[in-house]
Amino acid sequence: MIRVEGLTKVFRRPRTFSGPFGALRTLVTRQYEERTAVDDLSFEIGEGEVIGYLGPNGAGKSTTIKILTGILTPTSGTVEVNGLVPWSDRSANARNVGVVFGQRSQLWWDLPLIESLRLVGSLYDVPAARFETSLRKLRDLLGLDDFLDTPVRQLSLGQRMRGDLAAAVLYEPPLLYLDEPTVGLDVLAKEAVREFIVETNRAGRTTVILTTHDLADVEALCKRIILIDRGKVIFDGAIDALVDKPRRLVVTLESQPEDVRGVRRDADGRYVFDIHGDLPGMIASIAAEHPIRDLSIEEPDLESVIKGIYTR
Ligand SMILES: Nc1ncnc2c1ncn2[C@@H]1O[C@H](COP(=O)(O)OP(=O)(O)O)[C@@H](O)[C@H]1O
Ligand SMILES: [Mg+2]
Repeated sequence: MIRVEGLTKVFRRPRTFSGPFGALRTLVTRQYEERTAVDDLSFEIGEGEVIGYLGPNGAGKSTTIKILTGILTPTSGTVEVNGLVPWSDRSANARNVGVVFGQRSQLWWDLPLIESLRLVGSLYDVPAARFETSLRKLRDLLGLDDFLDTPVRQLSLGQRMRGDLAAAVLYEPPLLYLDEPTVGLDVLAKEAVREFIVETNRAGRTTVILTTHDLADVEALCKRIILIDRGKVIFDGAIDALVDKPRRLVVTLESQPEDVRGVRRDADGRYVFDIHGDLPGMIASIAAEHPIRDLSIEEPDLESVIKGIYTR
């Protein structure tokens, strides 16, 4: 469905000088600064996958999505989306793709939401009957009825996001790019967005690429994640594989036996075990030798795993 190979995007912008005559100097020197936003990226995404596309600020996520949608042309590399090259088959590609940028609405600010949706319908040549069916489904799924007639500029962030999601899938594209769709939303609105993604993916086999800082979104929605850093892929695989870190068992013993060789003790004198396999078995075998006063188990979570990767 999506094939990306050796994708590189270098932005060039005029080098700017400050101080007296800075503007003039900027103009006459014509020096450029280059920034490699995406650096030799390769990955493939199959039909119906929901991918978490993650990385720190400035890693190149939005740039990748803009290339996949055809908004930007890469410096080098090949991309194929449903058999099309996004930037050279821009309008054909647009019909295959729904996009939501959480930071910026795609809707017409001054129009009531329903009018924005009708405009999207006609831009994408959705036949009237199909439009009505789609709209009815989306009104239910996203709870649009309370604000369909409200101008977009008066919508709350959560309502606006639901409107944007509706507009992105109204023409039933097989692919959906969501760039920070839950940013700034409250818990309920986030939940609504997640349910929408699950439902859209299930009902239409829609492939979803999701960029988010909210790892709870990722854990709820994605089986596979692609982590990027400074424009390069640093992990691509199942979340399960990533989080397959040892569970940490911290034990306080009744007595304080001599330090057990090979077992770490923390500042409070508790014994710390990192356990991959049989946790109950391990606890039993410790307890058989030394009575246990207290124990705690720390499960690895996605957030600390990913933090660990980036700080390494
Ligand atoms: N239009 C642009 N001109 C120059 N540099 C850009 C432009 N867009 C993005 N960049 C730079 O490319 C890098 C990647 O940006 P971006 O793809 O937006 O990252 P992310 O979405 O992962 O936060 C950043 O260093 C950013 O400053
Ligand atoms: Mg971004």
